[in-house]
Amino acid sequence: MCGIVGYIGKSQAAPILLDGLSKLEYRGYDSAGIAVYDGEHIRGQKSIGRLKALSELTHDGATMPGTAGIGHTRWATHGAPSNENAHPHFNEDETIAVVHNGIIENYLKLKKKLAEKEYHFVSDTDTEVVAHLLDYYYKGNPIEAITKVMHRVEGSYALGIMFREHPGIVYAVRKDSPLIVGHGKDGNLIASDVPAVLKYTRNVYFIQNEEIAVLSEDSITFYNVDGEEIQKESSAIDWDINAAEKAGYEHFMLKEMYEQPKTVRDTLNPRIRDGAVVIEELGMTDEEISQIRKIHIVACGSAYHTGVTAKYVFEGMARIPVEVDLASEFRYRNPILQEQDLVIIISQSGETADSLAALREAKRKGVKTLGIVNVVGSSIAREADKVMYTWAGPEIAVATTKAYSAQLVAEYLLAIKFAQVRGEITETEVRAYLKDLQKLPEQIEMLLSNKERIQHFANRYVSARDVFFVGRGIDYAISMEGSLKLKEISYIHSEAYAAGELKHGTISLIEEGTLVAAVLTQEDLYKKTISNIVELTSRGAFVLAVTNAGNTEIEKAADYVIYIPQTNRWFTNSLAIIPLQLFSYYVSVGRGCDVDKPRNLAKSVTVE
Ligand code: F6R
Repeated sequence: MCGIVGYIGKSQAAPILLDGLSKLEYRGYDSAGIAVYDGEHIRGQKSIGRLKALSELTHDGATMPGTAGIGHTRWATHGAPSNENAHPHFNEDETIAVVHNGIIENYLKLKKKLAEKEYHFVSDTDTEVVAHLLDYYYKGNPIEAITKVMHRVEGSYALGIMFREHPGIVYAVRKDSPLIVGHGKDGNLIASDVPAVLKYTRNVYFIQNEEIAVLSEDSITFYNVDGEEIQKESSAIDWDINAAEKAGYEHFMLKEMYEQPKTVRDTLNPRIRDGAVVIEELGMTDEEISQIRKIHIVACGSAYHTGVTAKYVFEGMARIPVEVDLASEFRYRNPILQEQDLVIIISQSGETADSLAALREAKRKGVKTLGIVNVVGSSIAREADKVMYTWAGPEIAVATTKAYSAQLVAEYLLAIKFAQVRGEITETEVRAYLKDLQKLPEQIEMLLSNKERIQHFANRYVSARDVFFVGRGIDYAISMEGSLKLKEISYIHSEAYAAGELKHGTISLIEEGTLVAAVLTQEDLYKKTISNIVELTSRGAFVLAVTNAGNTEIEKAADYVIYIPQTNRWFTNSLAIIPLQLFSYYVSVGRGCDVDKPRNLAKSVTVE
């Protein structure tokens, strides 16, 4: 969701800005622009559509000479995708340029006030208000103007700013929208995410809320909202640069699916020691774990789906009541939280606006919070009382796969830990669970190696109109994720239903040839779901079944069967989701969709 890059240094800025923006394309955008100080003026260029158009327009940046600049990829919120609405935005005499991520919530009020003072607006955006407001407050001291603006604007922002009168400097400031500073060898950078700077440096500062960064060619200084200088520690990014590249795969999504065995291993291994689960970062005593009254899992999208699975696991294995909420609902429903409750916020990016707001709501109510987060140093990671990282590395494709798999195993580990501490499972059972968990990476590899069969099947369904996913219990949670994967990247309408619920309305949608993916990994529910399959096939559905190896009886009821290796009943999601991910991927490829950057979607949803 919108990307920001800024550079000041010895090299030409425009090619670095374009390159940095290309690393942020995964976030989703519909227009792009850059502004570079050419020694006299700040010159801007913008273009709607893909970044390629901007690169062509500027001859890969060659037509925009200068060593300081800011760039932006815009995902439209206020105003349609257009050149006028694309960033950077300027004040009237083009002496101040601004790029912005986030939403200025009081922009209409500010716009009205500025219009009364004869400021003219050329775009529909909230961002342009910031450019004019900076102009209004600027009396020669940029920090003073920026802090005054910070006091006036409400909402969320990450801003990159340039002042023509201070040509050797790029300013950056944030509130509730991510922004980092990279300390490079021949210059310094700002960016909304690490991949944009990795080519130039691994040494980054995470700008915190209401902090200002001032970058020159050879210095980086930080200030607080009162304009006082503050000191910050930098962090070394240890990702391999290849982690943010496609490494020969046709799409990031395919690469990331293939990284799942490693992701699962990396998330599990540091937390399994001598046959026990050790989650040091949990920071909870056995007594505190024993006293948990209820767990509230809060998340969005796929992360929410892992939460639905976790509900079954926590309740089934540890016998702790669990409520799972969509963050966008939780934050406004005044949830009943008690002192001995634990709120778990799950988020790959750690920046999802609704999940962050839900976390703050839980903290406001005085409840313990735990973040299960992938991006180190992200807002949720910083603000949750405790954080358990999923070690998936950077996930670039908009549709999550490897972070989803990492979230699942992090949740299994927590459930095993809680179940053992609360005396619900024995040490022998813990060992058996851990053995099964440690087999998952190899089993996922095996499923991935079977991709041709799924590809072949997917090719038959590239023109499907509707697809249904059904299952019971954990299989329903798996179905929800299977359905989301398909619709988000292939644009085929699909729905997930609890298999027992079909008769209450949905079955009327089944026609001759409608594809239904049925998930049957829970032995105790197997026969029940088979009955539902029979109801479906007798109404013309074509049923693809995903079930455990050995359940060959299914072949009498379903039309096409994919077997997953045997694992413990609580962990089947980690395996059954693999063929469903592959299916969605190949349908999307077959339809010629933009697999990694599906329309209308953004990787990190930092607006409400
Ligand atoms: C779907 C997908 C989204 C995210 C959701 C939450 O493939 O990726 O549904 O799961 O937007 O994002 P995070 O986990 O970053 O909070």
